[in-house]
Amino acid sequence: MKIAVLKETRAGETRVAASPESVKKFTALGASVAVQTGAGADAQFSDEDYKGAGAEISPSAADAAQNADLIIKVQRPTTDELRVFPKGARLAAILSPYNDPDSISAYARLGVDAFALDLMPRITRAQSMDVLSSQSNLAGYKAVIDAGAYFGRAMPLMMTAAGTIAPAKVFVMGAGVAGLQAIATARRLGAVVSATDVRFAAKEQVESLGASFVTVDEDAMRDAETEGGYAKEMSEDFQHRQREFVAEHIAKQDIVITTALIPGRPAPTLVTSEMVQAMKPGSIIVDLAAEQGGNVELTRPGEAIEIGGVTILGFNNVPGRLAADASSLLARNIYNFVSAFWDKERTEFAVDWEDDIFKGIGLTREGKSIHPNFKDAAATAADEEAETTSDSDEDENQSSGSQ
Ligand code: NAI
Repeated sequence: MKIAVLKETRAGETRVAASPESVKKFTALGASVAVQTGAGADAQFSDEDYKGAGAEISPSAADAAQNADLIIKVQRPTTDELRVFPKGARLAAILSPYNDPDSISAYARLGVDAFALDLMPRITRAQSMDVLSSQSNLAGYKAVIDAGAYFGRAMPLMMTAAGTIAPAKVFVMGAGVAGLQAIATARRLGAVVSATDVRFAAKEQVESLGASFVTVDEDAMRDAETEGGYAKEMSEDFQHRQREFVAEHIAKQDIVITTALIPGRPAPTLVTSEMVQAMKPGSIIVDLAAEQGGNVELTRPGEAIEIGGVTILGFNNVPGRLAADASSLLARNIYNFVSAFWDKERTEFAVDWEDDIFKGIGLTREGKSIHPNFKDAAATAADEEAETTSDSDEDENQSSGSQ
């Protein structure tokens, strides 16, 4: 059983899907691991570290992927990356299929069984494999650190001989994994923290961290959570009232951190241009939803901008700004996933298609698209070829190349 670890090629991706620690554990299971040279360089893992852990260092992606049974990555492969995948290989990565449903037919065409780790069901058994949680947690922490770096004032209350400095007021919108970590971090730095969410369950979690919970309508919140623990899209009326309330609250804040996401939908707009204009000069907004369209109307994904004295940070890939820790946690998530389905006698990764975990994350199986949420992309490789008379290479280039 060969596991291949490829170097990420998407712009700005600093993370890697395996750490020397996870390589050591994979080899202890009896797997052979090939790591593409330089794969861990941005996360401070050298080829030597991987070699010391038992990996073979491959000079190129093609060499690493040759005869691989399982290819592990951070992000969805680009068309170029996919070219080196052997037929029948399995792929485990953060595939974000909602951002590019066409990529599913590309995996099917290649006969690659693809597992989207970002669709991991939120069940107790899968908690240690939950890549969204491990990465969001770091993003929530880094959002506060980034805000502090741009903020021209201190966070805590400071009583000095020269006088007292008031603590910063931090407002966190969206109290999921990232939001709760942002609250905890801001509290540790001594800020006065308030937070909001649409899920009722979030209220108690926010309060248990010593922050105040603010909302427009507790009753509407009781029905806002899906069985999977995610938020539903709220009614027009709720959103309207939420905006009125937020406009008033936000004007009094120093730092606003937005983290609100709805799986499979663009991020909800929570902060309008008018609200930004109403904030005090020197205030900071960190929009962690920037890559999904942003929670703030004025966010420019990937940029730090200043409008009327208010700085809006829309950094992409915030977990990648902590590449070493983000990679270590991701590597553990992937190891926990693979080892949970390890057949010790045959020393191989044994997929159980009937297991809820594989039902949740499996996108393709033996040339067919199988995930119920992507029925539109459910054409098999054979169907696609029958429908397409022209060379399909060109389409594939377009469909899986962008993030
Ligand atoms: P997420 O990243 O999808 O969304 C972030 C937050 O934004 C969520 O709390 C969501 O309710 C909130 N939100 C959405 N629309 C909003 C709006 N219009 N206004 C304000 N807030 C809005 O969610 P995340 O962080 O991945 O997790 C959500 C929940 O899932 C967690 O709080 C937890 O209860 C549960 N969870 C369970 C796990 C498990 O059992 N294995 C693991 C991780 C999370």
